[in-house]
Amino acid sequence: MENVLKDGWLDISVDPTLDLFEEINRLKKEKNAIILAHYYQDADIQEIADYIGDSLGLARQAAQTKAEMIVFAGVHFMAETAKILNPGKKVVIPDLLAGCSLSDSCPPALFKIFKEKHPDHKVVSYINCSAEIKALSDVICTSSNAVSVVNSFSKEQPLIFAPDKNLGHYVNKKTGREMLLWDGACMVHEIFSIEKITKLKQRFPKAKLIAHPECEDPILQLADMIGSTTELLKYSQQDTTQEFIVATEAGILHQMIKNSPQKTFIPAPPNNNCACNECPHMKRNTLEKIYTCMRYELPAIEMNEELRLSAKKPIERMLEISQAAGIQ
Ligand code: 13P
Ligand code: SF4
Repeated sequence: MENVLKDGWLDISVDPTLDLFEEINRLKKEKNAIILAHYYQDADIQEIADYIGDSLGLARQAAQTKAEMIVFAGVHFMAETAKILNPGKKVVIPDLLAGCSLSDSCPPALFKIFKEKHPDHKVVSYINCSAEIKALSDVICTSSNAVSVVNSFSKEQPLIFAPDKNLGHYVNKKTGREMLLWDGACMVHEIFSIEKITKLKQRFPKAKLIAHPECEDPILQLADMIGSTTELLKYSQQDTTQEFIVATEAGILHQMIKNSPQKTFIPAPPNNNCACNECPHMKRNTLEKIYTCMRYELPAIEMNEELRLSAKKPIERMLEISQAAGIQ
């Protein structure tokens, strides 16, 4: 199947006169498909999506959808999570190579050895990891429920947190724990410049810095509010502040501006001059690729059943804990 793919996607020429919005909407009905998109997707993809959300919201939607086909406009681990929860459904992703630097920073073979060195520890893994890492975990978490998930263990229970050391460090501080942290990080959230943000704060003294917990500790220490993409978006709507410096992937600004057009949103600057606060993996997806993956039902996520079942348990545990904690 994969031999028809070039570089992870179907490189089939698309008639440039096609109205892709119309065609994608037609395919949605014809195939009983739902498009789930992460906030880091380009604005046109967010506009065509049936649901836009953070990783927890997307996992929940994937768990409860009645659609026959799930089109995942996000990155590979997100589509894989949808497949783990929906073995009988077709899960397609516009580009199979839309990966994640954070997920890649935790190779399963090395993590298994690390885990075996600490047999008394339970494993909490951030959802930004492969199915193999999920299968080695006791419970999964996202940035919106990490503190509740970790607090679901007794204080005496030693924990490993993988793969994001920045989120792990943040949760350690919030919970007063000393979890062992895997040394992984996200290439986008590690790029923000504390010097440039400090200068921006001097230029815009009323602006609030809002940051994702995947950012490094010095940025988080300076932040007025820390939260998942959904939490940052909600805060930007509800808080009376008119100016925000946003330390996360720039795609979220589309919804922030749409929901609060009178407010000013400034993307936090990276420590060089490139557009590094855009995730290159998320940005591999395009409307054309969404159209071709829906039309030809390729690339699709396939998974070994034994792996799927082992990865499913800790995801379900996370969904139960978030439900019980009332996390939106
Ligand atoms: P959330 O959407 O859960 O906040 O995660 C951000 C992220 O980096 C997804 O890749
Ligand atoms: Fe992975 Fe970071 Fe991109 Fe999210 S923003 S998909 S954590 S590389």
